[in-house]
Amino acid sequence: MQAATMNLHDDIAIRARGLSRRFGALQAVDRIDLDVPARQVHGFLGPNGSGKSTTIRMLCGLLTPSQGQIEVLGLRIPEQAEALRSRIGYMTQKFSLFEDLGVRENLEFLAAIQGVQAAPARIDALLERYRFGDRQRQLAGTLSGGQKQRLALAGAVIHEPELLFLDEPTSAVDPESRREFWENLFELADSGTTILVSTHLMDEAERCHRLAVIDRGRLVAEGTPSALTGALQGRTLRLRAADPRALQRRLLAVPGVLGVAQVGTALRVLLAADAGAAGRQRVVAELASAGQPVQVDDVAPNLEDVFVAVTGNDARGAGEGRA
Ligand SMILES: Nc1ncnc2c1ncn2[C@@H]1O[C@H](COP(=O)(O)OP(=O)(O)OP(=O)(O)O)[C@@H](O)[C@H]1O
Ligand SMILES: [Mg+2]
Repeated sequence: MQAATMNLHDDIAIRARGLSRRFGALQAVDRIDLDVPARQVHGFLGPNGSGKSTTIRMLCGLLTPSQGQIEVLGLRIPEQAEALRSRIGYMTQKFSLFEDLGVRENLEFLAAIQGVQAAPARIDALLERYRFGDRQRQLAGTLSGGQKQRLALAGAVIHEPELLFLDEPTSAVDPESRREFWENLFELADSGTTILVSTHLMDEAERCHRLAVIDRGRLVAEGTPSALTGALQGRTLRLRAADPRALQRRLLAVPGVLGVAQVGTALRVLLAADAGAAGRQRVVAELASAGQPVQVDDVAPNLEDVFVAVTGNDARGAGEGRA
């Protein structure tokens, strides 16, 4: 019995039940249930202010929940947060390096704080692994955005944590650096590290093994990216027209249309679950009366569609910071 319980805990790195946090009148995190399997890259997707950082801070033991239970790596949090500290890495949303220390000095400092054994060898390996071999003395403040994120990741894993919390690690870096950063994350996961990574970028979310989608403090969807998008099969249309903006408002008023977003010169339409063939016909009829030729294609659903479907908000509109 005891052994079975242990195994269960081994395979679930993070478990939260009814996790809530209130700041005065604001319910920032609202009864979130979360299971993060070990050795996976688990995404935490939500728009600005949805409660991602607040949740991560509670899971790390840095912020006390108003309500709910947390178990991380078999430890009760926040009660056993002290024992957790050496087993996790945390890359905060705000840049977490000492800008007036060199690359190597940053890692030396973090190694000292974490009490890393054989620190010089570990630092050599990280400098090599994260491609800082010829920049060891460069001041961290003078690195490019992508290099800073790479150094911050090296710092977060210096003590070889079992579990890594990354809070929007790539929000300030270019696509090429992001791709490389994500390759580093998968390599860490392959070597046994569990990763919880928050993002508001749909292309990043698509890469995760599993995703938790939150909106206004609530968990609104959970699953693999393909399961989440697969559930919307048959509900997404792409329209090509000469004047898409003129169509956008008209279509939003059509019953059964949940969202209409302009993507380049096309419009992407998401139909409600119960809209069915009739919903599609209503869209086509509305287009026919709009007086411009329109090409209608069925397209594969993506995670932005998932977000619109589960929240009712069109994340692709003017929402601040959403991609
Ligand atoms: N210490 C605090 N005191 C008061 N309100 C707070 C505090 N920390 C967070 N909040 C509020 O809680 C809500 C959730 O914030 P949080 O930082 O968790 O969101 P987020 O999803 O990380 O957003 P972002 O994508 O912008 O980083 C926000 O409305 C925020 O203003
Ligand atoms: Mg945040």
